[in-house]
Amino acid sequence: MEHKSPAKIKIREINPESQAEVSLVALRMRLTLIERVGEEKATAMYSLDWLVNRVLWHLDPSQTTAKVFLAEDRDGRVVAHAIARIERDENGRAFGYFSTIYVEPLLRNQGLATSLLLKVESWLSEMKMPKIIYNTAANHEKLIRLFGRHGYSVTHRESEMVQLTKQLH
Ligand SMILES: CC(C)(COP(=O)(O)OP(=O)(O)OC[C@H]1O[C@@H](n2cnc3c(N)ncnc32)[C@H](O)[C@@H]1OP(=O)(O)O)[C@@H](O)C(=O)NCCC(=O)NCCS
Repeated sequence: MEHKSPAKIKIREINPESQAEVSLVALRMRLTLIERVGEEKATAMYSLDWLVNRVLWHLDPSQTTAKVFLAEDRDGRVVAHAIARIERDENGRAFGYFSTIYVEPLLRNQGLATSLLLKVESWLSEMKMPKIIYNTAANHEKLIRLFGRHGYSVTHRESEMVQLTKQLH
């Protein structure tokens, strides 16, 4: 396959004061669900308000330690995002939880998700997390391939979900 040159993008953190950015990420969380489970189920699962509050929850340091990274094209348009946070297991040990990733359809297959994934990994590595976990649908082959290329393996399967894990430290 011919490789397109990677789109010129800049990765930065979301501006927590920007309602427009928070709403855009929430909308794309909705679009992710629509792509994965269809519109009817997606709408029944979470309202847009709930998704907006979920983004805001990630941005509230009294609730969690998290990053919402945005990828911006050369015109400053937000074209992709990734969200990750620090969680604790049942023994109180901290680990990195990579919660979601989304790239605008027209800009897929150019390495944008890869750039976001590397950004998330470098943050969680700086935070000295021993491992990173990502949960996804067992039939999300593209996502599993993407993470597989970066050292994540399937560590758990339950009904239609798989857990991907990468050991860091
Ligand atoms: C899954 C998703 C984030 C991947 O984003 P992406 O930016 O297309 O990912 P990448 O470009 O880094 O890699 C995807 C493919 O492009 C290829 N690629 C990477 N750089 C490339 C380049 N410069 N030229 C051509 N192909 C390239 C990769 O090899 C990979 O190929 P594969 O799918 O055959 O394995 C995107 O499809 C998406 O947003 N899907 C909807 C949301 C979603 O499902 N999120 C996950 C919820 S669990």
